[in-house]
Amino acid sequence: MSLHGLAGLLLSLALLAVPAYGQSLAGRWAATGSALANGEVRKNILDLKQEGDKLSGTLQSLGSIRDVTGKVAGAHFELWGVGSNNPKPFVTGDLVNGELHASLRGDPIVAHRATAADEIPRPPYIEPPALHNVKSNGLATLPPMGWNSWNLFAEKVDDQTVRTMADAMVSSGMRDAGYIYVNIDDTWEGVRDAQGNLQSNHKFPDMKALADYVHSKGLKLGIYSSPGPRTCASYPASYGHEVQDAKVWASWGIDYLKYDWCSARAIYKNDALQAIYQKMGDALAETGRPIVYSLCEYGLGSVEKWGADVSGNLWRTTGDIRDTWDSMLSNIEKQVPTAPYAGPGHWNDPDMLEIGNGHMSDDEYRTHMSLWALTASPLLAGNDIRSMSAVTKSILMNGEVISIDQDPLGKQASPVKNGDLETWIKPLADGGAAVGVVNLGPAAAQATVRASDLHLARPVAKARDLWSHQEVQFIKDSYTATIPSHGTLLLRVWVQ
Ligand code: GLA
Repeated sequence: MSLHGLAGLLLSLALLAVPAYGQSLAGRWAATGSALANGEVRKNILDLKQEGDKLSGTLQSLGSIRDVTGKVAGAHFELWGVGSNNPKPFVTGDLVNGELHASLRGDPIVAHRATAADEIPRPPYIEPPALHNVKSNGLATLPPMGWNSWNLFAEKVDDQTVRTMADAMVSSGMRDAGYIYVNIDDTWEGVRDAQGNLQSNHKFPDMKALADYVHSKGLKLGIYSSPGPRTCASYPASYGHEVQDAKVWASWGIDYLKYDWCSARAIYKNDALQAIYQKMGDALAETGRPIVYSLCEYGLGSVEKWGADVSGNLWRTTGDIRDTWDSMLSNIEKQVPTAPYAGPGHWNDPDMLEIGNGHMSDDEYRTHMSLWALTASPLLAGNDIRSMSAVTKSILMNGEVISIDQDPLGKQASPVKNGDLETWIKPLADGGAAVGVVNLGPAAAQATVRASDLHLARPVAKARDLWSHQEVQFIKDSYTATIPSHGTLLLRVWVQ
């Protein structure tokens, strides 16, 4: 290489390491964030690497941790959560006089270069237990149905919201349609008392009284925690307190636990997932109370292969759903390889429903409901049950579609794609089948369903369109209909 070439190379290497404006964002940054509902304050550490205009690293909030990726333009930077399908950055800001002036999930923060005093202490390592099979709890013989607070309320959930939602589950007809579980997600947690018992925070003054109230309505109550030291929203979680926490929940009358990996990843690698989830499976069994066990670890470590061995009744197969067509579709499609593992007592979970939250069309929400039913997925509504429109009610409480989801055979349909049309066939316990044809395209399209494609043991006796609630005729073995863009033709076929 010529001297000239060498100088050029050195110059570009230098430019790669230090951006044009002369300062790098690489390194550890500390910032005090917002207060939690239990009085603690979120301490954040942003640990960044920078190559050219690309950023990567981690964000710790108290003990919770996530990978981030992002970019810099001049003094401005933006960071997204790795694996999150949210197109909006969750940290945005500027480097100003050696500080990061930023917005972290909407909270204004000023981060300075971290010193030893800023470091967030990590709890001592607890060895994962040896593997064994946890006896099945016998619950969730059909995919669980209910409501969960996270999709709509996130951190803004409290006792009053849950009570009024329980009232609405009854008055709207949701309970009678089969939606039984009322599940409180993250941010109910307080601090541990002198005996180490985790209390609820001021938003939930008396969990036992709340459980009694929910039970008095013929509903069941669910709660949320993490196997790590902190939940995803940085609240105290069950690390090292598994048996104690399970006992407290049982004493309150809890019927369902969503157990979210979150900060456990700061302590364990994915090869410990099964052992760590087994620990809580054992702890729940020890309480003697029937508690549905929902594993939330975004499909990591092939959970579908061992979820049932830790007495898991359902396990997430994907990252968090959002109220968009792309997010909904990508979640259900990611679940396809797990189909052989679904069955009575143990279900694949592509995340909660967004139906009624307002950012998809009615046809798209009908497709959302159809796909969750065809794949025998848990039906956990995530909207405001107190103020549902007539259309939202007609989607969530379509009994004919619910009966496809709740079919006792428990088979998860898989798709076959043909251009813009995707066909999902679900065999049913009575020997018939449900068939859904989704129109992924931008315009209405005609679809033909052939009885011979349904692998039925006997000839078709009857067929119904489960959205128009009308009987349809198979003529010469087939039925043809027009499907709107992003809509679904959903048929149930009975055999002779
Ligand atoms: C994770 C889960 C969500 C929700 C939040 C709460 O992101 O996947 O479903 O429970 O944590 O912090």
